[in-house]
Amino acid sequence: MALKVVILAAGKSTRMKSDTPKVLHRVAGVPLLRWVLEQAATLEPEQIIVIVGHEADRVRKAFAGYPGLTFVTQQPQQGTGHAVMQARAQLAGFAGDVAVLCGDVPLIQPATLAALRAAHAGHAATVLTTELEQPGSYGRVVRDASGRVTAIVEARDLARGQERIHEINSGTYLFDAPALLACLDRLTTANAQGEYYLTDVIRLLAADGRPVAAHLCEDSREVLGINTRQDLALCDTIARRRVADALMLSGVTILDPASTYIEAGVQIGPDTVIYPFSAIHAGVTIGSHCEIGPFAHLRGGTKLGNNCKVGAFVETKNAVYGAGSKSGHLAYLGDVTLGRNVNIGAGSIVANYDGERKHHTEIGDDAFIGCGTVLVAPVKVGKNAQTGANTVVPRGKDVPDNTVVVGAPARVLKTRQGKAT
Ligand code: UD1
Ligand code: MG
Repeated sequence: MALKVVILAAGKSTRMKSDTPKVLHRVAGVPLLRWVLEQAATLEPEQIIVIVGHEADRVRKAFAGYPGLTFVTQQPQQGTGHAVMQARAQLAGFAGDVAVLCGDVPLIQPATLAALRAAHAGHAATVLTTELEQPGSYGRVVRDASGRVTAIVEARDLARGQERIHEINSGTYLFDAPALLACLDRLTTANAQGEYYLTDVIRLLAADGRPVAAHLCEDSREVLGINTRQDLALCDTIARRRVADALMLSGVTILDPASTYIEAGVQIGPDTVIYPFSAIHAGVTIGSHCEIGPFAHLRGGTKLGNNCKVGAFVETKNAVYGAGSKSGHLAYLGDVTLGRNVNIGAGSIVANYDGERKHHTEIGDDAFIGCGTVLVAPVKVGKNAQTGANTVVPRGKDVPDNTVVVGAPARVLKTRQGKAT
């Protein structure tokens, strides 16, 4: 069955109390909307329509490079049903299914969406639900005596007795497109929030006698919606644990996942050991047999070859390490390329920022950077060169190969012997 996806991402995120649109907040280093776009892609849709509204330009700009998206603006934002109405032009005449995903529900697994799709066969609408001990502000799934879904009632609109319902609406649905479009025309704002609720489509279809189903997601952590900063922190913990689990299964030792912060999209080779209290940001790649931390901070653009070390209180950013290069303690390496088997002494700094621009530094194979060295970028340190303790190498004063420099600013001391191989 042909399928289109509509992602709801126009809301203001009042409860986040943020200047940033909710879908640009990050979980495990990745914006919420990207998580949802990746879910959408697993359904292999013929079109992905993203409804934007609050700070629409920021959201569009942040995803300008993402292929194949159709952005539609919802202005003003009058509820989830009103949001889907904005996609009328894209859905008109479409005879397939429409998956509606919430931009603030990032953790649904592909297998769950596949199961939802299978459950939807032969139905006008199928809602993904789960059971929660404390259903809080989620919409509740109302069933009749025979167990048929008859409605979804928002927390603020609950009738007496309905607060006892534990099955909640995840905000994720599959609809038959013509059935959805017909019901959108019938939505009203007669509810506690004065909004057009998408959830009322379920009630209308059920009342018309159309087949409506609910598919229960066993693992309620997948369908957590992010409405507050507390929800954000909870989802972040779950997402990062997933990342750590996948890495451990692929052969990485993470001694204490709970105190290790590894974002999504980090690649780490087998037999690398990550000690606690280390932060490794999205896009970082680490080879095998490396040693990271404790208390290491690997920021964007860091790429380590095999057998490297980034030890305690070392921060890296856009730092490329050749195999066997080591920075054991207390260092900052920003915008720098290290050859192979470079040793960075404790307390060394690459001063990459001159107050206006960032500059690049290169350190050749087998170079030995003495403790407390400051390399003022842009500068090159040659192969097998050495700096003495507390050396300052000024910008542009490149250190030739096989040369030992000392002092502040550095002056040539002598020639260094080639490394015996
Ligand atoms: C919604 C559901 C609720 C469900 C919960 C799951 C409705 C009426 N309620 O409640 O049943 O349990 O999700 O997380 O649908 N949005 C727009 N335009 C709008 C309003 C919202 O695009 O005018 C977007 C938001 O940006 C958000 C999503 O729709 O991504 C859900 O909106 P939100 O306000 O978070 O609804 P909930 O109260 O969470
Ligand atoms: Mg929500």
